[in-house]
Amino acid sequence: QADVFTYDPGFTSTAACDSAITYIDGDKGELLYRGYPIEQLADKSHYLEVCYLLLNGELPNKEQMADFEGRITRHTMLHEQIHNFFRGFRRDSHPMATMVGVVGAMSAFYHDSLDINDPWQREVAAMRMIAKLPTIAAMAYKYSIGQPFVYPRNDLDYASNFLHMCFSVPAETYTVQPALAKAMDRIMMLHADHEQNASTSTVRLAGSSGANPFACIAAGIACLWGPAHGGANQACLEMLREIGTVDRIPEFIARAKDKNDPFKLMGFGHRVYKNFDPRAKVMKESADEVLDLLGVHNNPLLQVAKELEQIALHDEYFIAKKLYPNVDFYSGIILEAMGFPTSMFTPIFALSRTVGWISQWKEMISDPAGKIGRPRQLYTGSEGRDYLDVENR
Ligand code: SDX
Repeated sequence: QADVFTYDPGFTSTAACDSAITYIDGDKGELLYRGYPIEQLADKSHYLEVCYLLLNGELPNKEQMADFEGRITRHTMLHEQIHNFFRGFRRDSHPMATMVGVVGAMSAFYHDSLDINDPWQREVAAMRMIAKLPTIAAMAYKYSIGQPFVYPRNDLDYASNFLHMCFSVPAETYTVQPALAKAMDRIMMLHADHEQNASTSTVRLAGSSGANPFACIAAGIACLWGPAHGGANQACLEMLREIGTVDRIPEFIARAKDKNDPFKLMGFGHRVYKNFDPRAKVMKESADEVLDLLGVHNNPLLQVAKELEQIALHDEYFIAKKLYPNVDFYSGIILEAMGFPTSMFTPIFALSRTVGWISQWKEMISDPAGKIGRPRQLYTGSEGRDYLDVENR
């Protein structure tokens, strides 16, 4: 008996929702995916295995993993007609704008044949999005730099395939460095899900109306773009560029403390973590590994980042406000070192978070307690009053 999904307009909203996917303890700095600590997964697992875990609730055995990886690999290509959507955008469009548009357009290609009341077809939609988002993000990047699209390769793992689609060109052979692929896979894993953050709540809210999953993920991408959320990694690197040199850091620290100055230190602070973001700790290790591998420790931007981190970690304001470097601070450094433009930082966050969004969407659709429905408001406007003609105003 397929779940029957019917939108109940009388449905009263709940501010929170039940979910068995991700657990965060902001005070302890704990993050668990289906009960497994993020540190152990980052150390022992890989992104596609984490995708299986988030979607299905359990780690896969060898056969399950092989089947899952095979189904993802064989759906990494896009319908050729979707390529035309990219060409409708200006070359200098932000890749996030392109991703919102193209992922939304997937509704027109894959949704008509999709019945979200059928659990298996929900599974198909989930797999298609996990498979195709890296291809869409890479194509958005290639389009923005005027290079030809590069097709996915089935002989590469997920992270290597993404780097291949971004950095290879038809004119020469590109070989993915395993250490960079490992760092990219870790970035994807650490961004895979994060409980009811703004973009995940957007996906749940859109899905609670019965909208198709492609449109819901496009809504999540749009929300993630904001600089206070997923756009923070790009904003963080742009801030580091604005600071420019280590001697200018005190000026920006003073601005961050000034209540009359709207400036905030991008890459610091978190709505939930009042301790170190456990993802940031793992990401910091990766950043050091990647900088060593690429020999870019002397990059002035990265020197400013390291000095800013040390100052913020010992400054009484940041300690008092419990503002620690967050996941976006270090992921921006790694992506910068890998050669990605800052405009690609949030698209990489979006493709990584797609599995979290789609897992939460699946849980919401199949579990009435998970539907946000219609958030309540506290009305603070005028009391009831009669209309005044313009002559009497
Ligand atoms: C992500 O929700 C998620 O899970 C999101 C995310 C995910 O994986 O989905 O973790 C990803 O969005 C991480 C956050 C990335 N954003 C940034 O790095 C942007 C910079 N950070 C700030 O915008 C801010 O820290 C927020 C928005 C993240 C949190 O804002 P809050 O809820 O106001 O932070 P808070 O309650 O901890 O603030 C406490 C105080 C406030 O001052 P007072 O009102 O107490 O005087 O610290 C101040 C804030 O004004 N403050 C900062 C600051 N962040 C908070 N001051 C200077 N610089 C900052 N970065």
